[in-house]
Amino acid sequence: MIAVMGAAGNVGSRVTGLLLGQGRPVRVLEHRRRLDALGARGAEVVTGDLADPGDLGVLLKDVEAALVLLPDVVTDPEFTATRSRMSRAIADALAGSGVRQVVALSTVAAGQAGATGPAAGLRELEQRLSGLQGTGVLVLRSPFYMENLLAGLPLIQAQGINGSAIDGDLELPMIATRDVAREAAQGLLHREPGGHRVRLLVGPEDVSLRAATQAIGRRLGRPELPYVQFPPDALRGALLGAGLSEEGAAAMVELQLALNRQRSFRAVRDAADVTTPTRLEEFLEAALR
Ligand SMILES: NC(=O)c1ccc[n+]([C@@H]2O[C@H](COP(=O)([O-])OP(=O)(O)OC[C@H]3O[C@@H](n4cnc5c(N)ncnc54)[C@H](OP(=O)(O)O)[C@@H]3O)[C@@H](O)[C@H]2O)c1
Repeated sequence: MIAVMGAAGNVGSRVTGLLLGQGRPVRVLEHRRRLDALGARGAEVVTGDLADPGDLGVLLKDVEAALVLLPDVVTDPEFTATRSRMSRAIADALAGSGVRQVVALSTVAAGQAGATGPAAGLRELEQRLSGLQGTGVLVLRSPFYMENLLAGLPLIQAQGINGSAIDGDLELPMIATRDVAREAAQGLLHREPGGHRVRLLVGPEDVSLRAATQAIGRRLGRPELPYVQFPPDALRGALLGAGLSEEGAAAMVELQLALNRQRSFRAVRDAADVTTPTRLEEFLEAALR
């Protein structure tokens, strides 16, 4: 049995689909969104919360391998404390579970000692997982998911602009979650014995948000669609207006400012273990069909 956390999300849903496609028994954790469609395809569905040790015990019972992630619950007033509690609960549950292989989703910035915002929580998760004895841990560190771009669609439709606090000219090694999922599924299926390994993934090209906005605009019949870099306070206000908690909004702003501070991702590309195939145009063709 393989357990999948976050099976309603971008990566987890695709990992589950790949495993079911290979005829593997899969158990998924349903949280808010229903997973009936995965159940109909043969997944065992259990309901629960990643911060609840009892729910984790049910999810991980008699499991050989598990996909582990730390969701960004941006509406949570205690965004940081909840993620810390979740990462401790996940590591503790794995320690007593007999799971032999873990594949954990993380981010490039989690490799940096001064990781801030959501990356700090993922750094903590990585550190906790590295303490597991007798369990192989494969950490997949990815850059900016292409799916993040879709969060800009309501703004584009409402105001005819795209924007964030990220420098529009900063080129990011964006990655499609279907490629992250393929790497994760392989890690769950083809286990290597023991140890803690980190694999750095990057997409096939570095793309700035200005260029990505133009590509989105062309597909939406708005070839002149502008990208606007918002001041951090303006972004924070918009996120609060959209229902994020103070801490959740602060974390998302910090994530974007940390990307700006990085200035160049050339070293990340040079250090990458895997370059994934899906280009932005290919992703947008499928996403904006
Ligand atoms: N976005 C990026 O650019 C990026 C880059 C590198 C790494 N990552 C990492 O990749 C991870 C996966 O990304 P994704 O895009 O697949 O995430 P996603 O689409 O936001 O999905 C999050 C999943 O977690 C579940 N979830 C949320 N809170 C939960 C809780 N308290 N208990 C149980 N399940 C809960 C959600 O279920 P419900 O919807 O039912 O609540 C959903 O299935 C992220 O969490 C992040 O740490 C992201």
